[in-house]
Amino acid sequence: MPKILVLPGDGIGTEVTDVSLKVLKAIEEKYNTEFEVETALFGGCSIDEYGVPVTKEVLKKAKDSDAVLLGAVGGPKWDKLDYDIRPERGLLALRKELDTFANLRPAVVYPALKDASTLKGEIVEGVDIMVVRELTGGIYFGTPRGITKLPNGEEKGVNTLVYTTGEIERIARTAFEIARKRRKKLTSVDKANILEVMELWRKTVTRIGRDEFPDIELEHLYIDNAAMQLIRRPKTFDVILADNMFGDILSDEAAQLTGSLGMLPSASIGKSGAIYEPVHGSAPDIAGKDIANPIASVLTTAMMLRYSFNMDRAAEDIEGAVRKVLDKGYRTADIYQPGTKRVGCKEMGELIIEEVIKSP
Ligand code: IPM
Ligand code: MN
Repeated sequence: MPKILVLPGDGIGTEVTDVSLKVLKAIEEKYNTEFEVETALFGGCSIDEYGVPVTKEVLKKAKDSDAVLLGAVGGPKWDKLDYDIRPERGLLALRKELDTFANLRPAVVYPALKDASTLKGEIVEGVDIMVVRELTGGIYFGTPRGITKLPNGEEKGVNTLVYTTGEIERIARTAFEIARKRRKKLTSVDKANILEVMELWRKTVTRIGRDEFPDIELEHLYIDNAAMQLIRRPKTFDVILADNMFGDILSDEAAQLTGSLGMLPSASIGKSGAIYEPVHGSAPDIAGKDIANPIASVLTTAMMLRYSFNMDRAAEDIEGAVRKVLDKGYRTADIYQPGTKRVGCKEMGELIIEEVIKSP
């Protein structure tokens, strides 16, 4: 039986993951299939219980699972802790342990939500972008890192942005392959005008494109320009390839095109494992109030079914159900507009499940 390790995490992570598990149940029934689902503590709640954001046992369980379904981690309660044991570090450790180097973050503007964005409807209408973010290298992992004391009493903070050719090649190939199945355009983002490591990034992506993917149109943008073009001409983007930090930033920006960070799912894929997590965080300010948007998590579940279990039909059922519920005018608070029907997290989940069951 396929194994899923569920790590709801902190804040709204638990609420949205609850909804996803119910959607998963509906899929199991509909397709007469079964998953072995195990839940564990991760992030801040793991710190409270075990003193660390992720235990060795949980890392091992993650490795032994076919997929990890994650909610969100972190919150003000743990922000004062040493960097080494913060909730976010658990997430980085998990990504590294499973070597999930490719983070896929699709930003799709649903027709019903074209006016929910802070950008004009005509600019975002029809936007369908896949951000491919390198996830296990770059400045989030590079060494040396840390804060040291200087003889004069000042402190010095250091992080290191480092990429090897091999790391760039594998993420570039992933991005090119995805582009090949879509509209055949890849925009690679870097800062090659200033940083040597990014010069290597651009050179390597260019070579892979020329030698292995001549059918894909390749565009290079500097990160500053990319940030601007993404809100200026979002429809011209198909696949965006970026390193860990730039991809982190651009995927939040892309989320805003869709109306809310609460809409964005993601899949983190590697050779030996996969982690599925919404792009949004734990949103402690709205946690426990049943007002969070579960759609990102639900769409993340769809990505899991598609990429880890080859259940394309089931994934489409879920994505179609989300579209229908939005078309019918149901909205959580983050995407609410006058004239639509406001619902809570749980109710949004029930509406989606109803449509999943109804779909042929
Ligand atoms: C994300 C988040 C994480 C990241 C944090 C919580 C470590 O912002 O998944 O985008 O920076 O990768
Ligand atoms: Mn982020």
